Amino acid sequence: MANDSVSVKMDGPRREYRGRKLRVAVIGCGGIAQTHLTAYRDALPQVDVGAGVDIRADRLAVMRDKWGVPEAALFGADLASGKTRSETAWREMLRKMGDKIDAVDVCTPNFAHCQPVVDCCKAGKHAFVEKPMAMTVEEAKRMVAAAKVGGVKLSVGFQNRYRPALEALVEARDNGVFGDILFVKVRRLRRRGIPNWGVFGRRELQGGGPLIDIGVHFIECAYEFMGCPKPVAASGNTWTYLGNRKDKTRVRSPWPGWDWKTYTVEDLAIGHVRFDNGAIMQIETSFAAHIEENDVAEFTAMGTRGGCQFPSGRIFTDQHGTMVNIAPAFLDPAGDEWNALFARKLGNWADGCLTGAELGASGEDGLNVQRILNGLYDSAAAGGKEVEIR
Ligand SMILES: NC(=O)c1ccc[n+]([C@@H]2O[C@H](COP(=O)([O-])OP(=O)(O)OC[C@H]3O[C@@H](n4cnc5c(N)ncnc54)[C@H](O)[C@@H]3O)[C@@H](O)[C@H]2O)c1
Repeated sequence: MANDSVSVKMDGPRREYRGRKLRVAVIGCGGIAQTHLTAYRDALPQVDVGAGVDIRADRLAVMRDKWGVPEAALFGADLASGKTRSETAWREMLRKMGDKIDAVDVCTPNFAHCQPVVDCCKAGKHAFVEKPMAMTVEEAKRMVAAAKVGGVKLSVGFQNRYRPALEALVEARDNGVFGDILFVKVRRLRRRGIPNWGVFGRRELQGGGPLIDIGVHFIECAYEFMGCPKPVAASGNTWTYLGNRKDKTRVRSPWPGWDWKTYTVEDLAIGHVRFDNGAIMQIETSFAAHIEENDVAEFTAMGTRGGCQFPSGRIFTDQHGTMVNIAPAFLDPAGDEWNALFARKLGNWADGCLTGAELGASGEDGLNVQRILNGLYDSAAAGGKEVEIR
């Protein structure tokens, strides 16, 4: 698991830190970037945010006014006129501030993950990119290759692997509690939860719907739990039956009023992935599933000696001639909090950049998860036939 040499406590004053700092430029200063900036400010004294890039002037104004980044270090839009100046302004940032920046933190929408990472890694800057790594396997491969060329660290924004229950299950796995893991079932379903902000309904900008946006989190941590076997084949299907219908926007729901006119992603994706060790992962993910629960986010696993459930951390096995269900008596609730998880994932990356330590969620890990996602989309495009994953 991850190296966590630097404190990520979110409940105290920022610790004194006298070591070398990682000077970071944030590319895409919208919603999730605010969580990153909070983690840097409150928990990661080894990071200094020195620049910001966005196509929106109001987002850059927040970088200046709330996060104290000087106007000369803000790129992409003009704060006075409010106009966008460039859609590839990270290049200007590299030209003008290359000697003052060690790393970039990419928090743009999915369609703008690949190119900034490729350009910045080739320029010798470490990169962190939010999930999903990319829209396609080809993009993810280009990103991994660029990090190799630049000799830099590339990490992907998967935080569920740092949840206390997952860490406990991974430790149990390493102690042989589950034997060989044969089957994992991932369920990430919303009864009605189509995002009514951003570009989450637009396939050309996102690469897909619930599978690539929310399924990805539980696919990733289930994959980590399995020990990251090589995915070899995928079969599945996707369906759109609700998100593109105007009448459905009138049904009472937590996030009403999404843009049904531009909705081109799937509502439901069901899939089946085979791995080189014979194990199988089954995936159910949806923004709009006709199910009893409002929100399901879990995986269950079955092995030759035991099984488990995440996020409860419960283990099902045999002990002393009896079938037993084992529940953790304590899992640190503070470690499961949103801000703490972001501090863990960003701290792991920052420490990796500063010390050379191995990363928790590397570019290669992101690429394998991307292979699973796009294998399922490819199979759906082929009418549900099994496709090879390369
Ligand atoms: N890890 C998580 O749990 C988690 C949670 C939410 C979002 N995310 C991911 O974070 C990414 C961003 O999501 P968000 O909710 O913050 O979206 P957002 O729309 O709030 O923010 C994206 C920002 O990128 C900017 N942007 C767009 N194109 C740009 C370009 N070419 N150059 C510079 N800036 C550009 C936008 O103006 C906006 O400010 C997505 O990939 C999403 O999947 C991850």
